[in-house]
Amino acid sequence: MTEKKDELSAIAAGKIAAIIREKKTVNLGLPTGKTPLLMYQHLIRLTKQDGLDWSSVQCFALDEYLHPSKEHSFQTYLETNLYDHVGVPKANQHNPAMTDNYDQLITEHGGLDLTILGIGLNGHIAFNEPGTPRLSFTQCIWLQETSRKALSSTFGSLEATPKTAVTMGISTILSSQSIVMLAFGLDKKEIVERAFGNGVNPEIPASFLKLHNTVSVLTDCGSAIG
Ligand code: PGA
Repeated sequence: MTEKKDELSAIAAGKIAAIIREKKTVNLGLPTGKTPLLMYQHLIRLTKQDGLDWSSVQCFALDEYLHPSKEHSFQTYLETNLYDHVGVPKANQHNPAMTDNYDQLITEHGGLDLTILGIGLNGHIAFNEPGTPRLSFTQCIWLQETSRKALSSTFGSLEATPKTAVTMGISTILSSQSIVMLAFGLDKKEIVERAFGNGVNPEIPASFLKLHNTVSVLTDCGSAIG
């Protein structure tokens, strides 16, 4: 399974590298969490190997806690795991907690070309928790207990885990030209199957991805979809 995860992470990194080579300017939606860590390692390797130029790549973090400590912020995560290694200019590092109107900023840059997503155990994408409507833009949300429990290992306890965050909405994500979802580990198997099973259900936000024409699901817990 680890081998498969590595292979799929390399595929996702390859898709990002390909679009950076192809297009003059590129707008990426980027996730945090455990899932994309290997993908970022591959991307750093590809950047060094092929001399990928990130100077015209605009990076849009999918989400952020509200008032995080520097240590726990997703901005720091992206700096540590990607930006500082590949040379993303500071001005190209965007975060929804640093901007009043994230959707407008994304639109002004020409819209997202490629968005990479993970999936939460409750089916969330970015931090769009169950019940989020299809028509939702970047907004502040309350994190549900399932999400907070999954995040609590980073904070030491559930009590110390943030309750609020700001996230791109479902509409923001679906406006991306193409989308890649990564789902690794047996604990994600059931929710991935439910999300891509019958119909679209706001109680499983990832199921909204079925409304998009260009989604690849890269998962080691079943066959890849899309
Ligand atoms: P994880 O989080 O990568 O840490 O499992 C995924 C998500 O919540 O989107």
